[in-house]
Amino acid sequence: MERDRMARRKKIYEGKAKILYEGPEPGTIVQYFKDDATAFNAQKKDVIDGKGVLNNRLSEFFMTGLNNIGVPTHFIRRLNMREQLVRSCEIVPLEIIVRNFAAGSLSTRLGIEEGTPLPRPIVEYCYKDDKLGDPLVTEEHIAAFGWASQQDMDDILSLALRVNDFLSGVMMAVGIRLVDFKIECGRVYDGDFQRMVVADEISPDSCRLWDMETGQKLDKDVFRRDLGSLSDAYTEVARRLGVMPKNTTQMAKPKLIN
Ligand code: TMP
Repeated sequence: MERDRMARRKKIYEGKAKILYEGPEPGTIVQYFKDDATAFNAQKKDVIDGKGVLNNRLSEFFMTGLNNIGVPTHFIRRLNMREQLVRSCEIVPLEIIVRNFAAGSLSTRLGIEEGTPLPRPIVEYCYKDDKLGDPLVTEEHIAAFGWASQQDMDDILSLALRVNDFLSGVMMAVGIRLVDFKIECGRVYDGDFQRMVVADEISPDSCRLWDMETGQKLDKDVFRRDLGSLSDAYTEVARRLGVMPKNTTQMAKPKLIN
């Protein structure tokens, strides 16, 4: 029955980690979290059992927290293990990256050792285009090519920094350092008004999360760099945040009772 319902639904878009379906009411979308993991623009791929379930829950947790402190997001509610209802929005074609410590492409590009604290949060923009490998762009490019207006950019910067403060605090409370993260933003329309909201997902797929004591990586770098079990890492993040009861992704088979 579940499969029938899903089959009848109209698919709007399929990305590397999620599928978007038309929502039950106008202006809504169902966001389905797949178990697929990709890195390096999908040159490296795998299926990680339960990743979609964990990211659905974790993204719900972060987006709900943001909504509750007045940072607008597209999130409406979680529907089931793998799906959430979100407001449809016009996605700005940028990946907005905020960095608190040097890592990843910043370390490579500028030769700064991973883990070096940055003097202030650094915000970067990449143009969302898989064919080009999401290149780093400046506000000059964004304005010149009309990807976002100056007002959009002011709103995006303010959202990104608020998300950074919120996420840093939430993670610090459970002994995890928020090294960096990526968000996407979109415009929603309320009648004649337009506002910018945090969209897409916030999960260990789109953050760098290091244990504060041991430095252990608890994010997608575990997959990118072959450092062990990705689902163990994400389960640990969920466990510390109290987001999921233990082992929901690897539920024991039903036992026969005699
Ligand atoms: P980077 O150091 O590889 O530029 O990544 C910065 C942050 O952005 C890191 O938290 C991982 C996240 N990210 C994505 O969410 N999607 C991507 O496609 C890439 C390259 C990075």
